[in-house]
Amino acid sequence: MPNTPKPVLSLAGRRVLLIVAGGIAAYKTPDLVRRLRERGAAVRVVLTDGGAQFVTPLTLQAVSEDTVYRDLWSLTDESSMGHIQLSRQADVVLVVPATANILARMAHGLADDLATTVLLATDKPVLVAPAMNVRMYEHPATRANLALLATRGVGIFGPDEGPMACGEYGPGRLVEPLSIVDHLINWFAAQDAPRHLAGRHALVTSGPTHEPIDPVRYIANRSSGKQGHAVAAALAALGARVTLVSGPVRLPDPTGVKVVPVETAAQMLDACRAALPADIFVAAAAVADWRVDGAADQKMKKDGSRPPALRLTENPDILATLSAPGPQRPALVVGFAAETNDVVAYARAKRARKGCDWIVANDVSPATGTFGGDRNSVHVIRADGTEDAWTDLPKAEVASRLAAAIATHFVNGKN
Ligand code: CTP
Repeated sequence: MPNTPKPVLSLAGRRVLLIVAGGIAAYKTPDLVRRLRERGAAVRVVLTDGGAQFVTPLTLQAVSEDTVYRDLWSLTDESSMGHIQLSRQADVVLVVPATANILARMAHGLADDLATTVLLATDKPVLVAPAMNVRMYEHPATRANLALLATRGVGIFGPDEGPMACGEYGPGRLVEPLSIVDHLINWFAAQDAPRHLAGRHALVTSGPTHEPIDPVRYIANRSSGKQGHAVAAALAALGARVTLVSGPVRLPDPTGVKVVPVETAAQMLDACRAALPADIFVAAAAVADWRVDGAADQKMKKDGSRPPALRLTENPDILATLSAPGPQRPALVVGFAAETNDVVAYARAKRARKGCDWIVANDVSPATGTFGGDRNSVHVIRADGTEDAWTDLPKAEVASRLAAAIATHFVNGKN
């Protein structure tokens, strides 16, 4: 008889307390429970009253093969499983979907039902997968609540961008159940990983820059910031204190990372200088090479004559500036090289020209889909002549490998 391959139980032995809140995406949680259990996790569910409008307790009970907890005041639940005990018996508390309402209640410490009482009483890590209408997600109140929760160490998975049940389009979609499972596996791996970069400060740039033409127009590029943000998250997962100086992106702030938002290359350089000293500098931003010389301070109007000519002037090179020898030079400086042809040859020359220690070269020709996409193929080129090639990997995996290589560099006492 042929051997049937056994599923990889990467969540084997993990106990997840899943809080299902009241959003339309709650209908995906029975599938999430199944996927988590397929990977070996034990899942216990707390269902809010809002959540029960979208998914029945019986469904969640059937897929979790456990009691579904709902009522803070139920004598039966409280006698068999108090909310304190419930909150402590898991390895992690996962809130899916994390609606604007439950995020607000978490941020402000309310405890007006079983779910929020458990969230306040728990001594375990809390992870949330936000899902809501795009306007609610972009509302300053929700942004502030998420930022506050992130500073308290709450892990945030997503949201994704795309069409929504309410007919609108944008960020706010629940990350698909299988991706939540992947995020959770990576999250547990990061918890278990040795924190080799503890005590180090890493400075990372990410995203595009926007260079104004006038108050309403700007020059930009197609960088999504996905790779730079993933590098920041991966360095933080290894224990580094991370400052992420980011141009305008549509991405959630990575967990445990201090984000400094900027628009222009000049602002990015100022923010990087202000963040020094750092042990590690990773320049992943797609900085605009040029800005408009003398951008207009009022909106430019068509006046019937010739269109205006834009005169460009060169932006400061942030990577070259921070690579220059001096007392504040970070011990390890890693640049990125975006090339469309002769990738390795151009990248080697670029590393030497910019004065950085390593350069991560990627092919950004349109056929690769690297800009804005989720995967990347890179060559890591070092000053000592060693090279690595990492082909067709998710950007998160490229980031983890780069962070691991940086950690190895420091552990080996090169700095
Ligand atoms: N970089 C920077 N400041 C700039 C331009 C680039 O810090 N003004 C950094 C990028 O973050 C990246 C590296 O330099 O780490 C290389 O960026 P890339 O766009 O590939 O190179 P350029 O310097 O723009 O060179 P070219 O356009 O000639 O390829």
